[in-house]
Amino acid sequence: MSRATSITEAPLPDGLVWTKRHILGIEGWSAAEITAVLDLADLYVEQNRRADKRSTELRGRTVMNLFFEDSTRTKTSFELAGKRLGGDVLSMSVGTSSVKKGETLLDTAMTLNAMKPDFLVVRHAQSGAPKLLADKVNCSVINAGDGMHEHPTQALLDALSIRRRKGRLEGLTVAICGDILHSRVARSNIHLLGTMGAQVRVVGPPTLLPSSIDRMGVDVFTDMDRGLKDVDIVMMLRLQSERMNGKFVPSPREYFRFHGLTFGRLAVAKPDALIMHPGPMNRGVEIDSEVADDIGRSLILDQVEFGVAVRMACLRLLASTQQAA
Ligand code: NCD
Repeated sequence: MSRATSITEAPLPDGLVWTKRHILGIEGWSAAEITAVLDLADLYVEQNRRADKRSTELRGRTVMNLFFEDSTRTKTSFELAGKRLGGDVLSMSVGTSSVKKGETLLDTAMTLNAMKPDFLVVRHAQSGAPKLLADKVNCSVINAGDGMHEHPTQALLDALSIRRRKGRLEGLTVAICGDILHSRVARSNIHLLGTMGAQVRVVGPPTLLPSSIDRMGVDVFTDMDRGLKDVDIVMMLRLQSERMNGKFVPSPREYFRFHGLTFGRLAVAKPDALIMHPGPMNRGVEIDSEVADDIGRSLILDQVEFGVAVRMACLRLLASTQQAA
């Protein structure tokens, strides 16, 4: 089979070489790869702010969303990303599919693969599910969140949100707070921020901190006042009750009292510290509404906006490695 030199219309920015066929996790990515996505996403932020948001890089390509877990932001932004690049996008609703009749993940994926999608965007409760599919199908697989493992596009959009507001990632101190144990967002961010030269702290109650988390090169805190001292970024995580097998916190009220983010707590961080949350938020549980809605300090809506641009960049880069039919 001959390899196409370029099957997309718009060439990649000068000097940009991309070799990955799938995006399964941030672990093992180089700083250059992360920077490539962020630089391209910056261009797509501009495109998304125009009245005419459409380009043609994915013309003729098909993106299939396969979400076995609920999603608002991630699913919608992959749909928009595919459409804004001129591709065809289809979102399978797993609740009404043959999965309900007992079809295995692999059978469902192979069936969809036979319809010749170019991208399969997969969210699944099982860690490693996207990798399993990537080994079997011949399209590009993007992990949209697998169990407690990774959520690579979330970490990339978080990084873009920080970089656009602070101008850099290197040298910043970022506190990731709350339910670290169940969070794929935390894991992907720890890999990404570490690789980009940020100092990462995790802050949470002992029951929600994985026992070997310090091996990931982070500083570990169980007390918010200490953990937030002098940080540049406070990244709050949702208390992920659906992943909890048993009781990890006394009550949401108690949790808020000791681990919820309020302006009072934020006072020990740098005066220009910014607040993030991947959503969906539990207001009054991990974050006070006043803080979440402070447009000067909160990056939460930037994260949603830049999520579309980051996913466009990911699709575009993967398309550059696909072969022509
Ligand atoms: C996150 C997820 O699904 O992992 N949400 C998201 O993608 N924006 C975080 C969460 O569910 O708490």
